[in-house]
Amino acid sequence: MNFVVDKEDAITLSEAQDAEEEQVEMSLRPQSLDQYLGQARVKKEMAVYIKAARQRDEALDHVLLYGPPGLGKTTLAFVIAHELGVHLKSTSGPAIEKAGDLVALLSELDPGDVLFIDEIHRLPKPIEEVLYSAMEDFYVDIMIGEGETTHAVHVPLPPFTLIGATTLAGQLSAPLRDRFGIVEHMQYYTVNELEQIIQRSGDVFHTSIAPEAAHELARRSRGTPRVANRLLKRVRDFAEVKGEDTISLKTTEHALKQLQVDDEGLDLTDRKLLRTMIEGYGGGPVGIRTLAASVGEDIDTIESLYEPYLLQHGFILLTPRGRMATDKAYAQLGLPNPNEE
Ligand SMILES: Nc1ncnc2c1ncn2[C@@H]1O[C@H](COP(=O)(O)OP(=O)(O)OP(=O)(O)O)[C@@H](O)[C@H]1O
Ligand SMILES: [Mg+2]
Repeated sequence: MNFVVDKEDAITLSEAQDAEEEQVEMSLRPQSLDQYLGQARVKKEMAVYIKAARQRDEALDHVLLYGPPGLGKTTLAFVIAHELGVHLKSTSGPAIEKAGDLVALLSELDPGDVLFIDEIHRLPKPIEEVLYSAMEDFYVDIMIGEGETTHAVHVPLPPFTLIGATTLAGQLSAPLRDRFGIVEHMQYYTVNELEQIIQRSGDVFHTSIAPEAAHELARRSRGTPRVANRLLKRVRDFAEVKGEDTISLKTTEHALKQLQVDDEGLDLTDRKLLRTMIEGYGGGPVGIRTLAASVGEDIDTIESLYEPYLLQHGFILLTPRGRMATDKAYAQLGLPNPNEE
């Protein structure tokens, strides 16, 4: 099986989101816990904590959401604020450069509001330290002035809820992680849940999709709503060009082939990763740096986006000396497997 790497139509997971796609995502975001599909365990737990906080009229405990990209962490943060009936202010780890930026954000909050920090593992260390007292006792001590006039100012804060999201929980420092009372691990979605998400997105797009087409799309979306919605948009283009009223299974299969998404939902980069391990390193073990360099992706992207799915679905194994391709990987790429001779 051969594939051309730079073919124009191919879709890869790590493709940056453009402004339009972000707009579309916003319109697809469920607002309430009821509309939020899947993640049954997380939803059940959050419903209890939210209800308790509302009854006590207190700020919800701080929440850490972690898991691979596109599983609905940002969406859930907005849903939580909506269910609490409070405002949400949104920022991200790398966007906060100075302690003053953080203090400004915090002091704008009303009691009980949510501060959402995306990519919280990328918060600069000194800022993280300012966050400790803010999270624990709702105050910050900041230094003001220069030279001899420098003095500490004690700033009390309203009680608030910090919701942090991260794709790489392992990169979070222990002191920060320990200050979250609620820690939720987002899971990959089942095919059935993704089918429902696809049908719902179809409604939002005013596009109808045949149940068997939705099923196929769901099956090949890597357990990830963002991927499902992305594929749906592209498949819809193919159906429109064909003049189809309802997206058919046939068109879906054709479109996925053009997009080079294989029958397991692996994209070009997935296959490139596996091929590199097999053809370049005899199936491994291979270190993450070597892999990243040979497929031209950064280490974080491979660790947060590609690896978890390949691991969960048995295409790779993690060993102390690096990643190894499994028999399933050889079979998927149609490459001769020396272990089976
Ligand atoms: N439970 C869900 N039900 C319906 N749609 C969902 C759900 N979760 C996510 N989505 C859809 O998937 C898209 C991506 O979700 P979101 O942006 O919340 O993911 P994320 O985990 O924050 O990703 P990243 O780590 O890249 O920031 C959303 O726009 C939304 O349309
Ligand atoms: Mg997000």
